[in-house]
This record gives sequence, C-alpha cells and structure tokens, in this order.
Amino acid sequence: MNSSSYLSSVAACISLFFICSSVSANLYQLPASAGAAIPDLNGNGLLEPYEDTTLPDEQRIDDLISRMTLIEKINMLTGTGFSVGASGGSQKVPGAAGETYALNRFGIPSIVFADGPAGLRIKPTREDDRKSYYATAFPIATALASTWDPHLVEQVGQAMGNEVKEYGVDVLLAPAMNIQLNPLAGRNFEYYSEDPLVSGTLAASMVNGVQSQGVGATIKHYVANNVETSRMVLDAKIGERAMREIYLKGFELAIKNAHPWAVMSSYNKVNGTYTSQSFGLLHSVLRGEWGYTGMVMSDWFSGDDAAEQAAAGNDLIMPGIQPDRDEISKAIELGRLSGAELDRNLKRVLQLVFRSPSMQNYQYSDHPALLEHAQLARQAAAEAVVLLKNAHQALPFSKDIQQIAAFGNTSYDFIAGGSGSGDVNEAYTVSLVEGLNQHHLVVDAELADIYQRYAKQQKAKRIKPKTMFELVPLIPEMPIDPALVEQKAKTADIALITLGRNSGEFQDRELSDFNLSPSEQALITQVSKHFHRQNKKVVVVLNVGNVIETASWKDKVDAIVLPWQGGQEAGNAVVDVLSGEVNPSGKLAVTFPLKYQQLPSAKTFPGKATSEQIVMDPYLKFALGMPSEIQYNEGIYVGYRYFDSFAQDVSFPFGYGLSYTNFAYGNAKLNRATFNGEIKAWLTVTNTGERAGKEVVQLYVSAPQGQLEKPQQELKAFAKTVLLEPGQSQTLSFTLTAEQLASFDDFGSQWLLEKGEYLLALSSSSRERKLSLPFFVDHTQPLGHQLLSLKPRHELKLLNQQ
Ligand code: BGC
Repeated sequence: MNSSSYLSSVAACISLFFICSSVSANLYQLPASAGAAIPDLNGNGLLEPYEDTTLPDEQRIDDLISRMTLIEKINMLTGTGFSVGASGGSQKVPGAAGETYALNRFGIPSIVFADGPAGLRIKPTREDDRKSYYATAFPIATALASTWDPHLVEQVGQAMGNEVKEYGVDVLLAPAMNIQLNPLAGRNFEYYSEDPLVSGTLAASMVNGVQSQGVGATIKHYVANNVETSRMVLDAKIGERAMREIYLKGFELAIKNAHPWAVMSSYNKVNGTYTSQSFGLLHSVLRGEWGYTGMVMSDWFSGDDAAEQAAAGNDLIMPGIQPDRDEISKAIELGRLSGAELDRNLKRVLQLVFRSPSMQNYQYSDHPALLEHAQLARQAAAEAVVLLKNAHQALPFSKDIQQIAAFGNTSYDFIAGGSGSGDVNEAYTVSLVEGLNQHHLVVDAELADIYQRYAKQQKAKRIKPKTMFELVPLIPEMPIDPALVEQKAKTADIALITLGRNSGEFQDRELSDFNLSPSEQALITQVSKHFHRQNKKVVVVLNVGNVIETASWKDKVDAIVLPWQGGQEAGNAVVDVLSGEVNPSGKLAVTFPLKYQQLPSAKTFPGKATSEQIVMDPYLKFALGMPSEIQYNEGIYVGYRYFDSFAQDVSFPFGYGLSYTNFAYGNAKLNRATFNGEIKAWLTVTNTGERAGKEVVQLYVSAPQGQLEKPQQELKAFAKTVLLEPGQSQTLSFTLTAEQLASFDDFGSQWLLEKGEYLLALSSSSRERKLSLPFFVDHTQPLGHQLLSLKPRHELKLLNQQ
C-alpha cells in the first residue's frame, strides 16, 4: 500500500472507529520487535542495573532508558495497534483492548489493557481451544452507585481484579467516572452518578479493590466526556467553577484516595483543547495540584496531534498507530518535542510496566473464581435495587402469590449491561422469569410462550450487527391484546411488567428512548386496568441503563422496582427483592425528572454544529452537520443542584429509595457550633419497622449566599448502616473539612470558604430532610491560590513569562 492510500484508510477507519465492517486484519499492528528475549545474565555473570531486582525500580528504569534507541522509545510510548477483527488490540489475550510494546532485547514484556467498568472484557472463546474465557458481568456502574456502599464496590473491584489477573491482563480500563449530565448520553450506564462526591468515592473504592489484586485500574475519561455524539471532536465549553466543582472533583477524589495506576484522557476537547493534548489538565491540575505520579494514556485514536499529546504529558498513546509514531519522530527532529519530555513520559510508562504481573512473569491460571463472583454479582445487584414506589405494601410478595403473569419482552430477556467497550462477555444472564422459576414461583406459561414466540419472530428479522461493538436495538414492545390481559387478570395473582432499555458507546439515546413507546404505555394502562378490577397488584420492573420518563404512568401501578442493568445475576437479584429475601436499600444517584425538557442541558445536548466544522479535520473525524461544540450553560447546576435550587418538582429525587422497613433519625449533634478547620456530626439511625434493613444517610450542606452564589444544597458526605434488625440502632459519624465545604471562585482562581451560617442536613433523600443543624464559619478563608490551567502549553509559557 502506498503511503497516501495507507493514510486515507487509517483516516477512514479512525473516523468510523469500529463501524468499519471489513478492515484488513492488523492494519495498525506494529511489527514485532526484532530479537528474542535475552537471558537475565550478561556474558560475565553480572546483572545489568535494569535487570537487578534488588535495585529500586527508578534506578532500573533510568538505566534501561539510557540504553534505549530513539525508535524503541517512540515504540514504547505508543501501543502496538488495534485490529478491528476479533483479536482487538492484544496478541496475548484475545479480545483485550491494547498492549504496550515489548522491549524484547531487554527482556521487558508487553503488558495488556482490557475494558471495562462492569467487568473484564475479553473474547470468551478462542480458535482451536475448547476452554472458555467468560468473565463475570457485574451490575453496571449506575447500579453500583445506587448501593451507596463503598465497601461493596471495593469487593466487586477485588473480584474484577482477580479476573483481570487470572486471565493474563495487567491493567483494567475502568472505572469510568464521567458525570451523568444528561439522561440521553449513551455511556451513562458506565458512569456512576450526577454527583461528583458519589462518583469519586465509589470510583476510589473500585480502584482500591482492583489494585488490591496486584493489577492496575484506570480512571477514565478525564475529563468532561459527557456526550457520545461527535465525541472525538466535540468541544465542551465549560466555565472554570463548574469544571472544578463538578467535572474534575470526582477525579480528584479518586486520585487522592486510591492512586490509580493509570488515568485515561478523554476524546473531547475542553474549551478548545483536546484533553489528551492539554498541558493544563494533564500536568498542572492532575500532577501539579493533585500530586498524581502514575501514567496517563489516551483514549483509543483520540486527539489530532500525537506530538502535542506527548508534550502535554499524555504518556502513552493508544492503541498506537504508525502516524502517531511518525508525528512524534518529526516533532523531535523539529525541536517541538524534547528528549527530556520523551524520557519523562517513558519513565511513567515503564514504572507501570515494572509493577505489572507480566513483568513479574506471573503464571496466570485462566481460572478466576467465577462461581464466587457470580454470588457477589447477585448480592451487589440486589443491593443496587431501588424501590421507587410501593403503594399499600404491594411488595414483598405475600404468601398468597403463586401464579405470576409476566408482561413485557424484557421479562424474558433481561439486559445485563450496555454495549460497546463497557460490555462484558458473560456466560449467561438470568432473566426475571428465570429468577422467578429459581425461587419456585409459577410464571404463566401461555403468556411466556406468546412472548417467546414474538421475540423469536422479531429477532429473525433483525439485521446482523456489523461489528462486535454495535448496539443491537431491542425488539419493539409486543403490542398487547386487551382480551389476553383481561383473561390473565382472572387467573394470575399479580402482574409484573418489565420495561427494558439498552444503550452504549458511539451513540446517544433519542428522546423516544427516554419516553415510553405507545405500546409500553398501552401495556401499563391495560394491565393496570384489568388487574386492578380484579383487586390484584401491578409491579413495574425497570431494566434500564439510565433514567427514563416515569411521571406520566407511575400513578397507574402499585410498585416500581429499579434494578437498572444488574449484570448476569440480575434476574435472581430482582426476585430476591420481590420475594422479600433481601430488603431493598438502594437509592438513586441520579434524578428522575418529570420530563426531559426540564433539564437545563436539554437545550444544549448533544451540542451544535459550528462554522469551524466546515474545515474538515485531517483525520476525517466528523462529518458535516454534526455537532462540534456543546455549551455547559447550566454551570454548577447539574442534577439535584439544579432541581433543588430552582424549586423544580421531579418524579423521583436524587438520593431517594424506599425500604420494606422504616428508620428513625435521632440524637443529631455537632462537635462545635463554629467551624474550626473541621466539624463533626453524629446521628443515630433506628430501625423502627418489622424487617431487618439498611439505610443510606445523606449529609447535605446549604452554604450562605456570599461573594459566590451557592446551590440550595450539596451532598457533602454519606454513610450506609449495617443490616439493622427491627429495633436496632447505629450511630453514624461524619467529618467535614474546609476543602469539602469550599466553593471555587473563578475570578480569584481559588477555593473559598465563605463566612456565614451553614445548614447541615441529615436526610434520607435530597427531598427528605430528617434533621438539620446550623453551624458558623466566622471569617472567609481562601484555601491556597490556584491557577486552573486549561490553556495550551505555548499559551501557558507566555502567561508564565508575563
Ligand atoms: C473507549 C474507552 C475504552 C477503549 C478501549 C474506547 O472506545 O472510549 O473507554 O477503554 O475504547 O476499548
């Protein structure tokens, strides 16, 4: 292939990224480096410093770098490529996303990166191999967030880490922790919450869990990757205060509390600069201010200038293609990139390689503890269930419930998780109906048969996906025959209706996916009408990846259960809750609005086309007419910060979730009335109902309106009780520091704790304040001077010279 046709096919593939149906295998593959691995000892029986494991890694790495050629260095700073075919980006572990270059001449192996947030993503079967390599599909991140349980998320992380290690992978490309700005964002399911404290706390737990196994975790996508449409070029226009308080905050918490081995920069630009090329974000903020010492890798095929990425401190460029290597080499020649910058990045890549299992020559088993992990997945999925409505104690099922009518296509075909790189190749998914069967509950066989036949017909009509990443649309909801519903209302004891939604990487959802379809609305109306006539209850189960419309129909049904996409054991977990074996304790980490248009971001999402896009990007990364810019006009008013500050009614508020028992909040106290560097709060939670249960207590603070305007309240801490038996109490304590209470003053470029009266609320949801306690801050305190540097490197240099 001549160089121009090579470049144009690279460009076309990058632009389509995985949408290409046929790409010559290994197009981006780097040729294997020459020479076999050398023996550990050199000729005279002495170890070279880089081989000497008794020396500190830093010394070994410096020695190694001093021996490397420029070509080896450039190869080491770019991954080994990606083939759109089955093997993905790794020769060592099929289906993994990428690999680093092996420095065979020094005996340094390549290391393997694999997705993703709901569990390890690798190819489950291999040619000429009778073994299988399935991984556990855990509940999606949005579901894990609904547990509000950092300890449980850490356990899930440990299990994922075990699978990563035992399948021969070195670094997991998770957790993903972007803010859920808008419910239509296709990848929300991979993310935790609309709130940075929940996102940052749970991402830190996930990282700690994964890394406890001796493998790495990667927090991604740094930062403001909140939209899929035009994601590879979209410029997120965000004010500095919103950047600090909303979009960067979670990453800061994860960095400081968990020290992830890697950070993945995002596809998008922030205020005109690709994040992967932003010296301000990667150097000044991440490393300078937060003290991060690990490695930054790019997202796959991101940015438009590999040399600029390297200069900004995006250490490793993934998946690594020849044009990246050429750009870096040219930039060195031209003096745009210095040898020192190259070595700086190289050190960080090699530090990660040195701590990897591959470098320790770890003999992985290909047998992770899958059975144990399935149990944990079920437990986590049950803890994630949010009980949104439970009129007249429709749930848990009473002893009289024997015959169940299961409506909705999805009852028979549960969705374990979303699509794209966040999808897991699990061995099975337990559906709702299978979960009912396992609990010895009888499902109406005729109805089951009708739904299954319909699904078979519809699936036969479906067009086969062109790539392994493509989102396969769900089959349309089966139009229901009212006479059939009437008949079932007479014979069954209760109706369950499951509504399903799926979404994934590469595309955002449509408004029609947020709203219910006419068939779904008709299903709810018909089933409620006929079952209520027979004095029987109707329960809706929401097997969804993110927020949907609930306000128009929630009054028609008796109970609503939200298990999200709960992973491979979701069907069992939902029935654990329906049957009462598990008392639901999940709460929403994202608001359910009355309608989509209520959200401030509804006016701007997914961005608009600007005149600049007429100039075609050299890599053909976007087409004419596609959005190229999105204004974050809502500023800090994201999620409940908006709904609460602007007194908007919602369908289900942030932090909300019911239980089969009740809790009383009492004995709230503070250690002092005036803030003095920190303040402590206590309260006692008592289970006043008749079943054992857990309660999530949320601490919100309303800060005084001073020099800076403040949201009506913000979540500052949370805690979950242990399983409290009826009558049992637990005292919870919370500590707040100045950093947690301060707001960002973008004029002064600093965090500011303003004087005045603060109100600390101990609440069971953002809309249910149980106890509140005032305290004072007696003088306004800046918390150090900071410059938020989101500017390109050359502009920064100019600024610094002024
Ligand atoms: C995604 C990343 C993922 C990478 C490797 C990209 O498309 O944005 O989240 O880790 O692919 O699969």
